[in-house]
Amino acid sequence: MSKRQKIVILTGAGISAESGINTFRDADGLWEGHDVMEVASPEGWRKNQALVLDFYNQRRRQLKTVVPNAAHLALKELEKQYEVVVITQNVDDLHERGGSTNIIHLHGELKKVRSTGDEDLIYDWEDDCVLGDRCKKGYQLRPHIVWFGEAVPALEAAVDEIYDAHHILIIGTSMQVYPAAGLVGYAPRDANIYYIDPNPSINYELQRRNKLEVFPEAATTGVRKLVDRLLV
Ligand code: OAD
Repeated sequence: MSKRQKIVILTGAGISAESGINTFRDADGLWEGHDVMEVASPEGWRKNQALVLDFYNQRRRQLKTVVPNAAHLALKELEKQYEVVVITQNVDDLHERGGSTNIIHLHGELKKVRSTGDEDLIYDWEDDCVLGDRCKKGYQLRPHIVWFGEAVPALEAAVDEIYDAHHILIIGTSMQVYPAAGLVGYAPRDANIYYIDPNPSINYELQRRNKLEVFPEAATTGVRKLVDRLLV
């Protein structure tokens, strides 16, 4: 039996937009009413820990009110026929709830927190995290999110997955935030690249690819079309 082809799926905030979660780069440049650096940087954390914790508490609460959309659900169908890896910049758990089984979270996860004194101490977290919540060593807990200026620990695993991919699906990302936006540069020269986004931005790495097909549309309709085509 021949080895199954491999699909790597790179997703951003746009795939969760139709579930009701706002994307980051909306017209006002704010993230749910906040300057991004206020709530997603080590400086912001140093300045106001209570505000940062509260911001992610609100995001975690919102997660309980939303469900995966047709795009998340369609992606799991690919696993019937392909080896599939989802590499997401999203901190929500909609890929997990949509049924995908192999997921790398590049920018962390809302439903986890970690120690500010020992980054290996990571805990599953369903509800609010407040000042005074501590790890077993006594350090304050913080959101398990990769903030601006911080290292991306999952990057190496993501690069390892993309090296031998046959197909790359890019869905709902503005391709502006590195290193995530540069991952596609590690794909084999002859990999097929598909980019689904109503407002696609063809960055440097994408300009250099000759097997690029763009679907300028919403994730729910674009993913459906592409999945039907890939499943033969
Ligand atoms: P952005 O907000 O930068 O981009 C969202 C993309 O989704 C845009 O290209 C939109 O055109 C597209 N979009 C909007 N509605 C869509 C729909 N219905 N279907 C498909 N696409 C749609 O979000 P990201 O590229 O994910 O980092 O941003 C990357 C990172 O920047 C995030 O992970 C976050 C942020 O700062 C951290 O939190 C560390």
